Amino acid sequence: MKRIEGKIALVTGSARGIGRAVVERFAAEGAKMVISCDVVDTTYPESNVKHILLNVTDREDIKLKIKQVVEEFGRIDILINNAGITKDGPFVRMSEEQWDAVINVNLKGVFNVTQAVAPHMSRQKSGAIVTLSSIAGLMGNIGQTNYSATKGGVISMSKTWAKELARKGAQIRVNCVAPGFIQTSMTHDLPEKVIEGMLERIPLKRMGTVEDVVNAILFLASDESSFITGETIAVTGGMVI
Ligand SMILES: NC(=O)c1ccc[n+]([C@@H]2O[C@H](COP(=O)([O-])OP(=O)(O)OC[C@H]3O[C@@H](n4cnc5c(N)ncnc54)[C@H](O)[C@@H]3O)[C@@H](O)[C@H]2O)c1
Repeated sequence: MKRIEGKIALVTGSARGIGRAVVERFAAEGAKMVISCDVVDTTYPESNVKHILLNVTDREDIKLKIKQVVEEFGRIDILINNAGITKDGPFVRMSEEQWDAVINVNLKGVFNVTQAVAPHMSRQKSGAIVTLSSIAGLMGNIGQTNYSATKGGVISMSKTWAKELARKGAQIRVNCVAPGFIQTSMTHDLPEKVIEGMLERIPLKRMGTVEDVVNAILFLASDESSFITGETIAVTGGMVI
């Protein structure tokens, strides 16, 4: 059985990494169309994927592009807020530029895109919104004042939206996925010692895979989670217990 058969999904930050894997999986799971959005241009071989250039910090362009998507495909059933950046540094030396850049993409970007999509979901009276948080948003992380603020912020925004968007009987669900230590380009070049130190803190004694993260996103995007809203699934191998 295909798990999101016939749905129209929109994924931000999807030219590479987790976002790209989400688009590919959604296309394979029967989505009618997956709209892939990124500041970077890319192509997808799948006939049910359309890539558009979209910067999550550009509110005017977002309004225009979301309107065009709804005009072309009639609705948006699933929104995955995945676009994210890091600009790490010790708290006492973190510049205003580092703070603003990360807040603008990871927190305000989620606000911008969700605010443009939500009215269409409200009109449909249904929808699923999943936002990428992080273990840093649950536990904090040295050198990530800006990043952890955004990743904690998306959890509380999602709880608010879970309450607000479900009024008047709308079946709009809003959840987060918080990945932990995942094998991606971000972690590829870490020294062996750092990796060993991290693994000691993970009960399941392995790094997560992109597929582990995509599985949680797919579950929250699909009707299998139809009675789950305002939640955050930590995909961390037990690192937060
Ligand atoms: N990789 C991990 O281990 C990990 C762990 C925890 C959380 N996350 C979160 O998961 C998400 C994806 O992570 P990833 O590792 O795949 O990242 P990545 O850096 O590989 O990909 C991020 C994508 O977002 C795009 N992007 C950046 N700024 C954008 C903007 N303004 N508008 C639109 N697109 C933009 C980039 O072009 C890129 O394609 C992020 O939100 C990240 O914070 C990742």
